[in-house]
Amino acid sequence: MNTKKIGFIGGGNMASSLISGLIASGHSPQQLWVSDVNPDTLNALAKNLKVNISASNDALINDVDVVVLAVKPQVLKAVAESAAAQIQQKKPLVVSIAAGITQNSLSLWLGAGVAIVRCMPNTPALVLTGATALHANKNVTAEQRNQAENILRAVGISLWVDNESDLDAVTAVSGSGPAYYFLLMEAMEKAALEMGLSEHMARLLVQQTALGAAKIALESSESPEQLRQRVTSPGGTTQRAIETFQQGGFSELVGKALRAARDRSIEMSNPAEHD
Ligand SMILES: NC(=O)c1ccc[n+]([C@@H]2O[C@H](COP(=O)([O-])OP(=O)(O)OC[C@H]3O[C@@H](n4cnc5c(N)ncnc54)[C@H](OP(=O)(O)O)[C@@H]3O)[C@@H](O)[C@H]2O)c1
Repeated sequence: MNTKKIGFIGGGNMASSLISGLIASGHSPQQLWVSDVNPDTLNALAKNLKVNISASNDALINDVDVVVLAVKPQVLKAVAESAAAQIQQKKPLVVSIAAGITQNSLSLWLGAGVAIVRCMPNTPALVLTGATALHANKNVTAEQRNQAENILRAVGISLWVDNESDLDAVTAVSGSGPAYYFLLMEAMEKAALEMGLSEHMARLLVQQTALGAAKIALESSESPEQLRQRVTSPGGTTQRAIETFQQGGFSELVGKALRAARDRSIEMSNPAEHD
């Protein structure tokens, strides 16, 4: 399976991270191809990561078994439509990482019968700590599912959803999620400064605390609620803060925010948004 040739159309941030992750997890750069409109991007990838570069998207499709569509959603329609003839002829597995572009749109642009895995990765993929959900259409074989999963697992964890519509909830949770944590970090840092800590200290304390809490949560079998209760002594400082959050409607506000993100994801999946 590791011997499959993988090609990336678009050699930007996500493609570079996926390529770095694949190489770090044992793929040879010689199995990897990239095409991009920008020759400087391609030359940098060839120089730094030693991957093959393709003169055109069609040439890349001709060379590989798996095509990863790694361009921005706004240009994906044009890229997919111009690649359709070559995809139909070569019939590779197509993996799309473009946010908000549905299986329906991809099938319409690429033509019928193509094996397509649609993924929703998130930004921490750039530091190999991503969380990705994947959805396969009915043309994807079991072997191709493994191939797609292997690619995304190179930059973090990956999980399958049976219903494509679940990707809207995934978008609201892990897709947009890093920004929620940044917002909390931003607010905590501001409060720390107001309480007299230096900028350096406020930032480092907030960052390290976020990392520590995430590590404990990942390594523990207990729920976040149990972990929270464990670090909240009755009558102590943490309890006072937690009560203040709860009195301000924290949980309800988080629920409302995630539902708003999910609803926006549904709106953005409307093909009219990509015309
Ligand atoms: N970054 C993330 O954390 C993240 C998270 C979730 C999902 N995604 C998805 O990942 C995809 C890629 O995002 P990104 O951040 O990596 O974008 P990016 O850095 O802009 O990379 C896209 C690359 O594709 C190139 N390109 C544009 N048109 C092309 C064409 N016709 N043929 C070949 N290459 C072309 C771009 O060149 P120019 O710059 O010269 O136009 C750019 O180098 C997006 O669809 C996004 O929704 C990204």
